[in-house]
Amino acid sequence: MRFEGKTVVVTGASSGLGYIIARDFAKEGATVIAVARRAERLEKLVEDTAGMVGSVLPYVGDLSKKENAEGMIDFAVEKTGKLDVLVNNAGVMDEFKPIGEMSDELWDWVMAVNLHGPVIAMRKAVNVMLEQESGGNIVNIASIGGVCGARAGAAYTASKHALVGVTKNTAFMYAHRGIRCNVLCPGGIETEVMESQTDISEFGVSRVMGGLDTAIPAGKPEDITPSVFFVASDDAKFTNGSVIVIDGGVSCN
Ligand SMILES: NC(=O)c1ccc[n+]([C@@H]2O[C@H](COP(=O)([O-])OP(=O)(O)OC[C@H]3O[C@@H](n4cnc5c(N)ncnc54)[C@H](OP(=O)(O)O)[C@@H]3O)[C@@H](O)[C@H]2O)c1
Repeated sequence: MRFEGKTVVVTGASSGLGYIIARDFAKEGATVIAVARRAERLEKLVEDTAGMVGSVLPYVGDLSKKENAEGMIDFAVEKTGKLDVLVNNAGVMDEFKPIGEMSDELWDWVMAVNLHGPVIAMRKAVNVMLEQESGGNIVNIASIGGVCGARAGAAYTASKHALVGVTKNTAFMYAHRGIRCNVLCPGGIETEVMESQTDISEFGVSRVMGGLDTAIPAGKPEDITPSVFFVASDDAKFTNGSVIVIDGGVSCN
Protein backbone atom coordinates (compact mmCIF):
# COMPACT_ATOMS: atom_id res chain seq x y z
CA MET A 1 0.00 0.00 0.00
CA ARG A 2 2.01 2.94 -1.29
CA PHE A 3 -0.39 5.67 -0.19
CA GLU A 4 -1.98 4.32 2.98
CA GLY A 5 -2.96 7.18 5.29
CA LYS A 6 -2.35 9.82 2.62
CA THR A 7 -4.87 12.48 1.66
CA VAL A 8 -5.08 12.95 -2.10
CA VAL A 9 -7.23 15.43 -4.02
CA VAL A 10 -7.95 14.33 -7.62
CA THR A 11 -9.81 16.72 -9.92
CA GLY A 12 -11.77 15.54 -12.93
CA ALA A 13 -12.45 12.25 -11.13
CA SER A 14 -15.83 11.62 -12.75
CA SER A 15 -14.44 10.14 -15.98
CA GLY A 16 -11.41 9.19 -18.06
CA LEU A 17 -7.99 9.57 -16.59
CA GLY A 18 -9.14 11.14 -13.31
CA TYR A 19 -11.57 8.32 -12.55
CA ILE A 20 -8.81 5.71 -12.83
CA ILE A 21 -6.28 7.84 -10.93
CA ALA A 22 -8.79 8.34 -8.07
CA ARG A 23 -9.82 4.68 -8.04
CA ASP A 24 -6.23 3.44 -7.97
CA PHE A 25 -5.15 5.87 -5.23
CA ALA A 26 -7.99 4.40 -3.12
CA LYS A 27 -6.73 0.91 -4.00
CA GLU A 28 -3.30 2.00 -2.74
CA GLY A 29 -4.80 3.07 0.60
CA ALA A 30 -5.35 6.81 0.19
CA THR A 31 -8.30 8.90 1.29
CA VAL A 32 -9.23 10.47 -2.03
CA ILE A 33 -11.18 13.71 -2.39
CA ALA A 34 -12.73 13.16 -5.83
CA VAL A 35 -13.75 16.38 -7.56
CA ALA A 36 -15.97 17.06 -10.60
CA ARG A 37 -19.35 18.56 -11.54
CA ARG A 38 -21.26 15.30 -12.12
CA ALA A 39 -22.34 14.07 -8.69
CA GLU A 40 -23.77 10.77 -9.98
CA ARG A 41 -20.43 9.81 -11.57
CA LEU A 42 -18.64 10.52 -8.30
CA GLU A 43 -21.19 8.34 -6.47
CA LYS A 44 -20.39 5.52 -8.90
CA LEU A 45 -16.69 5.97 -8.03
CA VAL A 46 -17.59 5.70 -4.32
CA GLU A 47 -19.47 2.45 -5.07
CA ASP A 48 -16.64 1.05 -7.21
CA THR A 49 -14.09 1.70 -4.48
CA ALA A 50 -16.16 0.37 -1.55
CA GLY A 51 -14.15 -2.29 0.29
CA MET A 52 -10.79 -0.93 -0.84
CA VAL A 53 -8.25 -0.02 1.85
CA GLY A 54 -8.59 3.65 1.04
CA SER A 55 -11.81 5.57 0.48
CA VAL A 56 -13.35 8.21 -1.76
CA LEU A 57 -15.05 11.39 -0.55
CA PRO A 58 -16.84 13.23 -3.37
CA TYR A 59 -16.64 17.01 -3.73
CA VAL A 60 -19.02 18.34 -6.36
CA GLY A 61 -18.04 21.62 -7.97
CA ASP A 62 -17.22 23.56 -11.11
CA LEU A 63 -13.48 24.21 -10.96
CA SER A 64 -13.70 27.27 -13.18
CA LYS A 65 -15.04 28.92 -10.02
CA LYS A 66 -12.53 30.06 -7.42
CA GLU A 67 -14.72 29.01 -4.48
CA ASN A 68 -14.60 25.38 -5.63
CA ALA A 69 -10.89 25.31 -6.50
CA GLU A 70 -10.21 26.58 -2.97
CA GLY A 71 -13.16 24.78 -1.38
CA MET A 72 -11.96 21.29 -2.32
CA ILE A 73 -8.66 21.92 -0.50
CA ASP A 74 -10.52 23.22 2.59
CA PHE A 75 -12.75 20.13 2.40
CA ALA A 76 -9.69 17.80 2.34
CA VAL A 77 -8.20 19.52 5.40
CA GLU A 78 -11.57 19.59 7.21
CA LYS A 79 -12.08 15.85 6.66
CA THR A 80 -8.54 14.53 7.22
CA GLY A 81 -6.54 17.33 8.84
CA LYS A 82 -4.01 17.51 5.98
CA LEU A 83 -3.26 17.38 2.27
CA ASP A 84 -0.50 15.15 0.93
CA VAL A 85 -1.09 15.12 -2.83
CA LEU A 86 -2.99 17.37 -5.23
CA VAL A 87 -3.59 15.97 -8.73
CA ASN A 88 -4.81 18.72 -11.06
CA ASN A 89 -6.32 16.58 -13.80
CA ALA A 90 -9.66 18.21 -14.78
CA GLY A 91 -9.51 19.68 -18.24
CA VAL A 92 -11.41 20.48 -21.41
CA MET A 93 -10.52 20.55 -25.13
CA ASP A 94 -10.92 23.55 -27.42
CA GLU A 95 -12.54 22.21 -30.62
CA PHE A 96 -9.09 22.38 -32.30
CA LYS A 97 -9.76 26.06 -33.02
CA PRO A 98 -6.77 27.94 -34.43
CA ILE A 99 -6.52 31.51 -33.16
CA GLY A 100 -8.27 32.94 -36.25
CA GLU A 101 -11.42 30.95 -35.45
CA MET A 102 -11.35 31.15 -31.66
CA SER A 103 -14.10 33.04 -29.76
CA ASP A 104 -13.50 35.06 -26.60
CA GLU A 105 -15.85 32.67 -24.76
CA LEU A 106 -13.89 29.58 -25.81
CA TRP A 107 -10.60 31.16 -24.71
CA ASP A 108 -12.07 32.21 -21.33
CA TRP A 109 -13.62 28.78 -20.66
CA VAL A 110 -10.56 26.72 -21.59
CA MET A 111 -8.23 28.97 -19.60
CA ALA A 112 -10.62 28.96 -16.62
CA VAL A 113 -10.79 25.15 -16.39
CA ASN A 114 -7.31 24.16 -17.60
CA LEU A 115 -5.25 26.91 -16.00
CA HIS A 116 -7.05 29.23 -13.60
CA GLY A 117 -8.66 26.40 -11.57
CA PRO A 118 -5.38 24.47 -11.15
CA VAL A 119 -3.47 27.66 -10.26
CA ILE A 120 -5.99 28.67 -7.57
CA ALA A 121 -5.91 25.11 -6.18
CA MET A 122 -2.08 25.07 -6.21
CA ARG A 123 -1.88 28.35 -4.29
CA LYS A 124 -4.23 27.06 -1.62
CA ALA A 125 -2.52 23.65 -1.49
CA VAL A 126 1.00 25.08 -1.24
CA ASN A 127 0.00 27.17 1.76
CA VAL A 128 -1.46 24.10 3.50
CA MET A 129 1.66 22.06 2.66
CA LEU A 130 4.02 24.76 3.93
CA GLU A 131 2.25 24.64 7.30
CA GLN A 132 2.56 20.88 7.72
CA GLU A 133 5.82 19.17 8.61
CA SER A 134 5.34 16.47 5.97
CA GLY A 135 5.30 18.94 3.03
CA GLY A 136 3.37 17.80 0.00
CA ASN A 137 3.24 16.91 -3.63
CA ILE A 138 1.53 18.42 -6.66
CA VAL A 139 0.97 16.48 -9.89
CA ASN A 140 -0.36 18.46 -12.82
CA ILE A 141 -1.79 16.81 -15.91
CA ALA A 142 -0.97 18.88 -19.00
CA SER A 143 -0.64 17.24 -22.43
CA ILE A 144 1.82 16.90 -25.27
CA GLY A 145 -0.15 20.00 -26.31
CA GLY A 146 1.78 21.60 -23.42
CA VAL A 147 5.15 21.02 -25.04
CA CYS A 148 4.42 21.40 -28.75
CA GLY A 149 2.06 23.45 -30.87
CA ALA A 150 0.62 20.75 -33.08
CA ARG A 151 -1.86 18.79 -30.96
CA ALA A 152 -4.88 21.07 -30.32
CA GLY A 153 -6.15 24.59 -30.87
CA ALA A 154 -4.70 27.86 -29.57
CA ALA A 155 -6.51 28.01 -26.21
CA TYR A 156 -5.78 24.43 -25.15
CA THR A 157 -2.15 24.72 -26.26
CA ALA A 158 -1.72 28.01 -24.37
CA SER A 159 -3.39 26.68 -21.21
CA LYS A 160 -1.23 23.55 -21.08
CA HIS A 161 2.02 25.41 -21.87
CA ALA A 162 1.19 27.80 -19.01
CA LEU A 163 0.48 24.89 -16.67
CA VAL A 164 3.93 23.50 -17.52
CA GLY A 165 5.45 26.91 -16.68
CA VAL A 166 3.62 27.22 -13.34
CA THR A 167 4.75 23.69 -12.48
CA LYS A 168 8.41 24.52 -13.07
CA ASN A 169 8.21 27.76 -11.10
CA THR A 170 6.43 26.09 -8.16
CA ALA A 171 8.96 23.24 -8.15
CA PHE A 172 11.83 25.72 -8.08
CA MET A 173 10.38 28.07 -5.48
CA TYR A 174 9.59 25.41 -2.90
CA ALA A 175 12.30 22.84 -3.67
CA HIS A 176 13.85 23.38 -0.22
CA ARG A 177 10.51 23.53 1.61
CA GLY A 178 9.36 19.91 1.22
CA ILE A 179 7.03 20.46 -1.71
CA ARG A 180 7.53 18.84 -5.11
CA CYS A 181 5.61 19.68 -8.27
CA ASN A 182 5.75 17.77 -11.56
CA VAL A 183 3.71 17.73 -14.74
CA LEU A 184 2.71 14.80 -16.93
CA CYS A 185 2.10 15.34 -20.63
CA PRO A 186 0.02 12.48 -22.05
CA GLY A 187 -0.53 11.87 -25.73
CA GLY A 188 -3.87 10.61 -27.03
CA ILE A 189 -5.69 8.58 -24.37
CA GLU A 190 -9.04 6.81 -24.79
CA THR A 191 -11.42 8.84 -22.61
CA GLU A 192 -14.55 10.97 -22.97
CA VAL A 193 -12.59 14.15 -23.64
CA MET A 194 -13.92 14.53 -27.22
CA GLU A 195 -17.59 14.00 -26.30
CA SER A 196 -18.23 17.67 -25.51
CA GLN A 197 -16.62 18.74 -28.81
CA THR A 198 -19.52 19.55 -31.11
CA ASP A 199 -18.12 22.41 -33.19
CA ILE A 200 -14.70 21.14 -34.20
CA SER A 201 -12.65 23.30 -36.57
CA GLU A 202 -12.21 21.36 -39.81
CA PHE A 203 -9.08 23.30 -40.63
CA GLY A 204 -7.63 22.90 -37.12
CA VAL A 205 -8.25 19.17 -36.90
CA SER A 206 -6.87 18.59 -40.39
CA ARG A 207 -3.62 20.34 -39.41
CA VAL A 208 -3.33 18.30 -36.20
CA MET A 209 -4.18 14.97 -37.82
CA GLY A 210 -1.79 15.67 -40.69
CA GLY A 211 1.11 15.76 -38.23
CA LEU A 212 0.13 12.67 -36.22
CA ASP A 213 1.80 9.28 -36.45
CA THR A 214 -1.41 7.24 -36.61
CA ALA A 215 0.52 3.95 -36.56
CA ILE A 216 0.87 4.47 -32.80
CA PRO A 217 -2.44 3.65 -31.08
CA ALA A 218 -4.00 5.81 -28.36
CA GLY A 219 -3.17 4.87 -24.79
CA LYS A 220 -5.47 3.97 -21.91
CA PRO A 221 -5.77 5.79 -18.57
CA GLU A 222 -3.93 2.84 -16.98
CA ASP A 223 -0.90 3.77 -19.13
CA ILE A 224 -0.65 7.09 -17.27
CA THR A 225 -1.37 6.11 -13.63
CA PRO A 226 2.03 4.45 -12.96
CA SER A 227 3.72 7.78 -13.70
CA VAL A 228 1.26 9.62 -11.43
CA PHE A 229 2.09 7.20 -8.60
CA PHE A 230 5.81 7.48 -9.27
CA VAL A 231 5.98 11.29 -9.08
CA ALA A 232 3.59 11.33 -6.09
CA SER A 233 5.70 8.82 -4.13
CA ASP A 234 8.97 9.12 -2.22
CA ASP A 235 10.66 7.08 -4.97
CA ALA A 236 10.62 10.35 -6.90
CA LYS A 237 12.12 12.48 -4.12
CA PHE A 238 14.70 13.93 -6.56
CA THR A 239 12.14 14.36 -9.35
CA ASN A 240 10.93 17.94 -9.19
CA GLY A 241 9.80 20.33 -11.91
CA SER A 242 9.96 17.47 -14.40
CA VAL A 243 7.92 17.51 -17.59
CA ILE A 244 7.16 13.88 -18.35
CA VAL A 245 5.84 13.10 -21.81
CA ILE A 246 3.87 9.82 -22.00
CA ASP A 247 2.65 9.37 -25.56
CA GLY A 248 4.00 6.08 -26.87
CA GLY A 249 6.54 7.99 -28.93
CA VAL A 250 4.08 10.01 -31.04
CA SER A 251 5.91 13.28 -30.43
CA CYS A 252 9.25 11.82 -31.57
CA ASN A 253 8.34 12.27 -35.23
N1 LIG B 1 -7.62 12.07 -23.43
C1 LIG B 1 -6.53 12.55 -23.99
O1 LIG B 1 -6.20 12.20 -25.13
C2 LIG B 1 -5.65 13.52 -23.25
C3 LIG B 1 -4.38 13.79 -23.75
C4 LIG B 1 -3.55 14.68 -23.09
C5 LIG B 1 -3.99 15.28 -21.92
N2 LIG B 1 -5.23 15.02 -21.45
C6 LIG B 1 -5.65 15.71 -20.21
O2 LIG B 1 -6.07 14.75 -19.26
C7 LIG B 1 -7.01 15.37 -18.38
C8 LIG B 1 -8.21 14.44 -18.21
O3 LIG B 1 -8.91 14.37 -19.44
P1 LIG B 1 -9.65 13.06 -19.93
O4 LIG B 1 -9.07 12.71 -21.23
O5 LIG B 1 -9.72 12.05 -18.85
O6 LIG B 1 -11.09 13.68 -20.25
P2 LIG B 1 -12.56 13.39 -19.72
O7 LIG B 1 -12.86 11.94 -19.71
O8 LIG B 1 -13.43 14.30 -20.49
O9 LIG B 1 -12.47 13.89 -18.21
C9 LIG B 1 -12.38 15.26 -17.90
C10 LIG B 1 -12.69 15.43 -16.42
O10 LIG B 1 -12.58 16.83 -16.09
C11 LIG B 1 -13.76 17.21 -15.41
N3 LIG B 1 -14.07 18.62 -15.68
C12 LIG B 1 -14.19 19.23 -16.89
N4 LIG B 1 -14.56 20.50 -16.72
C13 LIG B 1 -14.68 20.70 -15.37
C14 LIG B 1 -15.06 21.80 -14.57
N5 LIG B 1 -15.41 22.99 -15.11
N6 LIG B 1 -15.11 21.64 -13.24
C15 LIG B 1 -14.79 20.45 -12.67
N7 LIG B 1 -14.43 19.37 -13.38
C16 LIG B 1 -14.38 19.49 -14.72
C17 LIG B 1 -14.86 16.29 -15.93
O11 LIG B 1 -15.88 16.14 -14.95
P3 LIG B 1 -17.35 16.78 -14.99
O12 LIG B 1 -17.75 16.89 -16.45
O13 LIG B 1 -18.18 15.79 -14.22
O14 LIG B 1 -17.21 18.09 -14.30
C18 LIG B 1 -14.09 14.98 -16.07
O15 LIG B 1 -14.05 14.30 -14.84
C19 LIG B 1 -7.35 16.73 -18.98
O16 LIG B 1 -6.63 17.74 -18.31
C20 LIG B 1 -6.86 16.61 -20.42
O17 LIG B 1 -6.48 17.84 -20.97
C21 LIG B 1 -6.08 14.15 -22.08
